[in-house]
Amino acid sequence: MKLFLDSANLEEIREVAGWGVLDGVTTNPSLCSKENVTFEDNIRAICALTPGPVSAECVSLRAEEIVVEARALAKIAPNIAVKIPVGLEGLKATKTLHGEGIAVNMTLVFSSGQALLAAKAGARFVSPFIGRLDDVSEDSMALIEEIVTIFENYGLETEVIVASVRHPRHVIEAALIGAHIATVPYAVMQKLVKHPLTDIGIERFLADWGKVKK
Ligand code: G3P
Repeated sequence: MKLFLDSANLEEIREVAGWGVLDGVTTNPSLCSKENVTFEDNIRAICALTPGPVSAECVSLRAEEIVVEARALAKIAPNIAVKIPVGLEGLKATKTLHGEGIAVNMTLVFSSGQALLAAKAGARFVSPFIGRLDDVSEDSMALIEEIVTIFENYGLETEVIVASVRHPRHVIEAALIGAHIATVPYAVMQKLVKHPLTDIGIERFLADWGKVKK
């Protein structure tokens, strides 16, 4: 499973890249709004730090305008994937951009029908938001299972990015289902590493090491 960091913060991205587990980064306007740097400078710096795709989101709503915005974003770095909200205008834009070789991450996906249409239009990624589905008492993992099964049934090459991840169990359940990618906030990435029994085990070994004859 590939792990992306869901963050626009350079320190977090640099840190996780240093762990050797970073496959890509996803940003969105809310994440970018937390950083005290211009959008384009920040995305350029993130692209330089990240070994894989970096999602940068389009905010235009009409297909023609989305395409213009996406082309400009794609020029920032070769590893840009343009993030486009799913919808009729987004699908039209995706068809055009796919034809130009620009990677599209179709975002704000909440149904398997949306994911299927995104894949058919040529999106390289689809991003179902599982935490937001959990928030309204929907079975988010059933959605991931449906999308992964549909893509497998028809050999669709679009990769599923499990997004809106809230806790480590989300990542593990997505991995068990076979989702290609989870995009994980920094706090959840840290929780994936830590276990209290590991900390207790290290303390005990260090204490006992002190008693070993050397
Ligand atoms: O990548 C999309 C994700 O950041 C949304 O997460 O926590 O705002 O639902 P959240």
